[in-house]
Amino acid sequence: MPKRNGTAAGGFAAQSSDSVFKSSGEYFLPDGRQQRRDSLMTDEALILQAKDAMKNAYAPYSQFRVGAALLAKDGALFKGCNVENASYGATNCAERTAVFKAVSEGYREFEKIAIVASSGDYASPCGICRQVLAEFMPEGKVLLYSEEKGVVTYTVRELLPMGFRKEDIR
Ligand code: THU
Repeated sequence: MPKRNGTAAGGFAAQSSDSVFKSSGEYFLPDGRQQRRDSLMTDEALILQAKDAMKNAYAPYSQFRVGAALLAKDGALFKGCNVENASYGATNCAERTAVFKAVSEGYREFEKIAIVASSGDYASPCGICRQVLAEFMPEGKVLLYSEEKGVVTYTVRELLPMGFRKEDIR
């Protein structure tokens, strides 16, 4: 069973850019203690960015809007939405939009991706998106957010066990 750290957290309050974007490996807590940070952006901040990305979803056929926010290891952020098409099979999911934007800009190493859907429930990445995520961030974190249920976190490897890998091509 994949690990879950879900909480019934509900919506996140908007944060100032100071607390959202983190620039170094250490920061100070309000009481003055120094704290190491594991990420250049908090999970909460990344989810807010995914919600923002969802606003641009083009989903006239399914009405199911999805937003994704992908954090590169150096802190660069790439947002994506689903882009549907009258020829349904030409549709691109939010996750792949974000990954392809990033890779086409020269980024290949990612830390985590947050995914939010208009249904209010979790949008778990489709099989094609899992394969694409596994190419670039097999150990990366996938944060699924639901307004009602909060956040659940998986690694890409948990979502795609036994996936086909570049090492398999010989
Ligand atoms: N979709 C995504 O963008 N990401 C997911 O994780 C699941 C599905 C989109 C594709 C399509 O535009 C709509 O949701 C319904 O399948």
